[in-house]
Amino acid sequence: MILVVGATGQLGSLVLRRLRADGAPVRAMVRDPAGAADLVATGAEMAVADLNRPETLDAALDGVSAVVATANAVAPIRPVDSAAAVDAGYAGLVRRAARFGVSRFVLASVPVTDLDERVPVARTKRRTEQLLAESGPSWLSLRMAPSDEVSLALVGSELPLRGEQRTTLGRPYPTLRRFRRLTGRTIERHGVIVVPGPASARQAFISVHDAARGLATAVGDDTGWGAVDLGDPESLAWTDVASIYEGVLGRRVRVVSQPAAAFAVAQRLFAPVAPSLAGVMALNRLMATSETDWNTDDSARRLGLGTLRSVEEILREKAALPALPVR
Ligand SMILES: NC(=O)c1ccc[n+]([C@@H]2O[C@H](COP(=O)([O-])OP(=O)(O)OC[C@H]3O[C@@H](n4cnc5c(N)ncnc54)[C@H](OP(=O)(O)O)[C@@H]3O)[C@@H](O)[C@H]2O)c1
Repeated sequence: MILVVGATGQLGSLVLRRLRADGAPVRAMVRDPAGAADLVATGAEMAVADLNRPETLDAALDGVSAVVATANAVAPIRPVDSAAAVDAGYAGLVRRAARFGVSRFVLASVPVTDLDERVPVARTKRRTEQLLAESGPSWLSLRMAPSDEVSLALVGSELPLRGEQRTTLGRPYPTLRRFRRLTGRTIERHGVIVVPGPASARQAFISVHDAARGLATAVGDDTGWGAVDLGDPESLAWTDVASIYEGVLGRRVRVVSQPAAAFAVAQRLFAPVAPSLAGVMALNRLMATSETDWNTDDSARRLGLGTLRSVEEILREKAALPALPVR
């Protein structure tokens, strides 16, 4: 039995669907079963549990041989959700997984950067990786480059969200809703792509669908591995992304770069009053100061991923789909 922790999320639900499509027995860890009918329909078992409530984890782990964990609190939807709570929750999950004899643990993770200690989500990933390295199961932490379907929407576009289910950016997190209302279509409407950091910064944008395939494959591979990076072989600068949008939309697209220092100030200002928003600012700061100009062909090969989908391919495909309603 494979436990998916974060099964209601964008990437988590794709991992679950992929595992079910491969015929694997899957248990979805969910906090609210009322909103999980589509996951039940895949034939997955449900376990109602919460990383914030460690006492619920034992029942979720009972009879489980592998865990794949994507849960995170970047777009929190409950007052109790916080980076600190998820951090403690992951520590409890790893400890309990070892106690329950789980033999494989796969973590959806983020690349290593110099700012990791100052960015809550990255701090949690590093800490969880450390705990995994010290505990019993064989483990893989897949440190993924920014995704097409999230990152390319965040810079001012609705296109990447078309045809996607359970999107992170569609989560009912009020701050995110307000941000999207203001900035969600600046590329399509005004020909402006607002990016964190220099326009020349390169990222190996990867599709969440390819990332989900990688995570699902990694669950069945118990050769250890530790931590590996995964991105598309074609790293793009933001100026390249703008050119692709120009080709797809048939209009000029100008890059407006937001300096990392602005995010650092915003992170400090929001930290005492709105920690989640401070976390989002920290993520932007991280993105503004780091690149994923990688060649991860070896990881893709070992995960049997074949050709990964390019940014251009994805945006062209989505441009043919109907636009999403403005919310
Ligand atoms: N998108 C990117 O560019 C990118 C790049 C690199 C790595 N990653 C990593 O990839 C993963 C993305 O996953 P995703 O797209 O599925 O995330 P998502 O859409 O933001 O969904 C968050 C998930 O975490 C769950 N969760 C939050 N707090 C929880 C708690 N206390 N207990 C149990 N579950 C909890 C949520 O459950 P509820 O629905 O109940 O709230 C939901 O299932 C993350 O780990 C992220 O760090 C993403």
